[in-house]
Amino acid sequence: MKWLAIVSTVAAMALLGMVVADEVQDASAPDGLRDGGTVSQTLPAPPMAEQSRESGRAVLNYPEQPPVIPHNIRDYQVDIRSNRCLTCHSRENAVDAGAPMVSITHFMDRDKQVLAAVSPDRYFCIQCHVPQTDAEPLVDSTFRTVDEVLTEMLEREGGEP
Ligand code: HEC
Ligand code: HEC
Repeated sequence: MKWLAIVSTVAAMALLGMVVADEVQDASAPDGLRDGGTVSQTLPAPPMAEQSRESGRAVLNYPEQPPVIPHNIRDYQVDIRSNRCLTCHSRENAVDAGAPMVSITHFMDRDKQVLAAVSPDRYFCIQCHVPQTDAEPLVDSTFRTVDEVLTEMLEREGGEP
C-alpha cells in the first residue's frame, strides 16, 4: 500500500502545483495608461489614432513654436536622397504647391549665417514639426499658453493685462 500513498501524494502535489501556477499566471498585470488585465491575458491593442487629412493651420502657442503639421504625412519619405516635405515647402516649390515656404531660419546654420539651401540642421522636418491625431489625451494637459502666463503675471503685479 506504500506505493499508493506515494502516488497519491505526488498526484496531489502536482494538482496543487497546477492550481498555484494557474493563480500565479492569472495574477493581475499592472495597469498602465490602459487596462493591464491579467498576466495570461492578451488584451487587444487600441486602434491606431487617425491623422487628420486636412485640419487647417493651427494658431501657435508661443512665437517660436514649430507649427504643427495640418496634414497627413504617411509615406512622406525624408532620407539622404530625397526630402518629400521640400517638394512642397521649399523656396522653389512652395508657390506652385500652395504651401507655406519654410521660413528664413531654416536656411541659417548654427552661426546664423544664411545659406543658399535649407540648412542640414533643418533637414529632418519631423524632428520639430509633428502631425496631429484624433487620439483622446491619455493624461490631462496643464499646458498654458504664453498669453495666459503673461496675463497672470501682470495681474499678480497689479497691472492691467
Ligand atoms: C503635397 C504638398 C505637401 C507636402 C509633400 C508636405 N506639405 Fe506641409 N503643407 C502643405 C500645404 C498646402 C500646407 C498648408 C495647409 C493649410 O493652409 O491648411 C502645409 C502646411 C504645413 C505646415 C503648417 C505651417 C504653418 O505655418 O502652420 C507644416 C509645419 C508643414 N506643412 C510641414 C510639412 C512636413 C514636415 C512635411 C513632410 C513630412 C510636409 N509638410 C509635406 C503641403 C505639403
Ligand atoms: C530644429 C527644428 C526645426 C526643423 C528641423 C524644421 N523646422 Fe520648420 N519651423 C521650426 C520653427 C521653430 C518654426 C517657427 C519659427 C521659425 O520660422 O523659425 C518653423 C516654421 C516652419 C514653417 C512655417 C513658416 C512660416 O513662415 O510660417 C514651415 C512651413 C516649416 N517650418 C516647414 C519645415 C520643413 C518642411 C522642414 C524640413 C525641411 C522643417 N520645417 C524643419 C523648426 C524647425
